Amino acid sequence: MVRSERVRKKYDRWSRFYDAFDLGGVNDQKKLAVDVLDLKPNSRVLDVGTGTGAIIPYLASKLGPGGMATGVDFSPAMIERANARIRKHCLEKKAQAIVGDVTALAYPDGHFDAALATFAFTSFPEPEKAIKEVFRVLKPGARFSVLDTGKPPGRATFRYRYLKAVMWRAGFTDISLDVPALLKKAGFRIVKMHRFSGSYAYICLCEKV
Ligand SMILES: C[S@@+](CC[C@H](N)C(=O)[O-])C[C@H]1O[C@@H](n2cnc3c(N)ncnc32)[C@H](O)[C@@H]1O
Repeated sequence: MVRSERVRKKYDRWSRFYDAFDLGGVNDQKKLAVDVLDLKPNSRVLDVGTGTGAIIPYLASKLGPGGMATGVDFSPAMIERANARIRKHCLEKKAQAIVGDVTALAYPDGHFDAALATFAFTSFPEPEKAIKEVFRVLKPGARFSVLDTGKPPGRATFRYRYLKAVMWRAGFTDISLDVPALLKKAGFRIVKMHRFSGSYAYICLCEKV
């Protein structure tokens, strides 16, 4: 089975307990990843690899009646949960969750005003293709906020190497992926790197130039 099919099946299976274990919870890091986008009320915002759409209510809270938060994920089971969340919060007019592959988004060039990816890129089987596709669907000047896990600057510690092996084994999550470098290569300008002390998480805020 190809890696993307294995990843999709894995998230389909995990969807049942993803929220129960708070794997898709909304924490301050995710909220900050939204805040740095500095959204206008009528923005169209894309959340790639949205999972159970945990961030969607917070994202939608930044939008007015003309805005729309769109979560995309290739796992139908995750999207079912994201849509249940949208209904529960009565957000149907400001949010939607759609089954789709981030490497082949069903939107025209320059469709979105901003985009977000939380702990998604290191799970994407084809991250470079995914970045190119996000670049394509963003308007020039649009912001893209990537919250993920990666190697902190400096030498690779034992703790980091252990985490890297565990995350790969648990779910083909590659935390050695240098997402900021891939973003730059695709033509994004890095606006700000935010590192969280005591954790491997970072937010890379960039802009389509
Ligand atoms: C670790 S989860 C993160 C979910 C959510 N963003 C969060 O912060 O909890 C990664 C998600 O990316 C999705 N994913 C992986 N590859 C994808 C692809 N090629 N296209 C769309 N979604 C994908 C998985 O189905 C999964 O829901």
